[in-house]
Amino acid sequence: MKALVLSGGSGTRLRPFSYSMPKQLIPIANKPVLEHVLENIRDLGVTEVGVIVGGWAQQITEVIGDGSRLGLRVTYIAQEEPLGLAHCVRLARPFLGDDDFVMYLGDNMLPDGVVPIAEEFAEHRPDAQVVVHKVPDPRAFGVVEMDAEGRVTRLVEKPREPRSDLALVGVYFFTAAVHRAVDSIEPSARGELEITDALQWLVTRGAEVRASEYGGYWKDTGRAEDVLECNRRLLEELRPGLAGEVDGRSEVDGRVVVEEGARVVRSRIEGPAIIGRGSVVEDSHVGPGTSVGRGCVLRDTRIAESIVLDGASISDVPGLYGSLIGRNATVGASARHRLVVGDHTRIEVAA
Ligand code: DAU
Repeated sequence: MKALVLSGGSGTRLRPFSYSMPKQLIPIANKPVLEHVLENIRDLGVTEVGVIVGGWAQQITEVIGDGSRLGLRVTYIAQEEPLGLAHCVRLARPFLGDDDFVMYLGDNMLPDGVVPIAEEFAEHRPDAQVVVHKVPDPRAFGVVEMDAEGRVTRLVEKPREPRSDLALVGVYFFTAAVHRAVDSIEPSARGELEITDALQWLVTRGAEVRASEYGGYWKDTGRAEDVLECNRRLLEELRPGLAGEVDGRSEVDGRVVVEEGARVVRSRIEGPAIIGRGSVVEDSHVGPGTSVGRGCVLRDTRIAESIVLDGASISDVPGLYGSLIGRNATVGASARHRLVVGDHTRIEVAA
């Protein structure tokens, strides 16, 4: 089996981040979403991975390289415009050949993995197998209807009035039967070749499309709130370790990682939390639920339930909560509110 990871797209819901980086590289517990995705694929025993990349190809290749660091062989496939998930399958045909493959959306986090579902697919080998998860409001997702035996009877992309509470998770198992389907469909109302339509095409023609319910934690990291929630969740599973320096006047509580080369001085780190390599935390209280990236500086600051990306510095801010601070950003205090704010940035100031 091969894997096809979709890491193109535009990511407008994650603005302003998506102006300067692909959403698939947003760090969760200090590791890019895409790397979590690739690790899950490796856990399936798959090593040949095609990665669809769009305008952010360069940043993605800089981080993932040829995949050998992760035990994978990565082939990059360029997509000039985000014309849809089924368009990605069309583009990847030369890479995929007639092999079975798992298609994995590069912004989907499934920390509990999909090994049992992959095994189910390998055992029964239906034409296609999708993964579903019950959600209270599935309108932002593909929605699946299935019968009692797990056969899919209908799929609709982001319906206004969903007929079930089963959302399509961004992991799909395909045989070569999908290629005729993606070649046969037309663009949807939003102008994309939808994989949901390709699956419906198969169902309509009597192909066997099965659905397995995923019971673990799942997040589509499309919005800042989702990224923060997912970060919290992953931090709760961190293996604690203090490879960096923590001085005698600091206090470390609960699940905390201080990476090598990080320095914690006169501070309190409240787990779950991670302080990245080369970062300095002084006279601050960090956590719970907080990731500080690499090469950051935090001084006289109180921050919780947040993610600070690489190279950011924060000083004299007593109450940061639920925040996502971009790479090399500077946050500081002043007598008046003084803001240099990028396009589509969101700021909430305590009243
Ligand atoms: O997260 C699950 C949902 O993902 C499913 O429930 C939906 O049925 C499915 O259509 C998809 O919906 P989204 O609107 O969330 O898809 P998004 O545009 O965010 O794209 C998903 C990933 O695929 C993301 O990593 C970007 C990448 N992508 C997307 C498009 C449209 C590409 O690489 N190329 C593309 O043309």
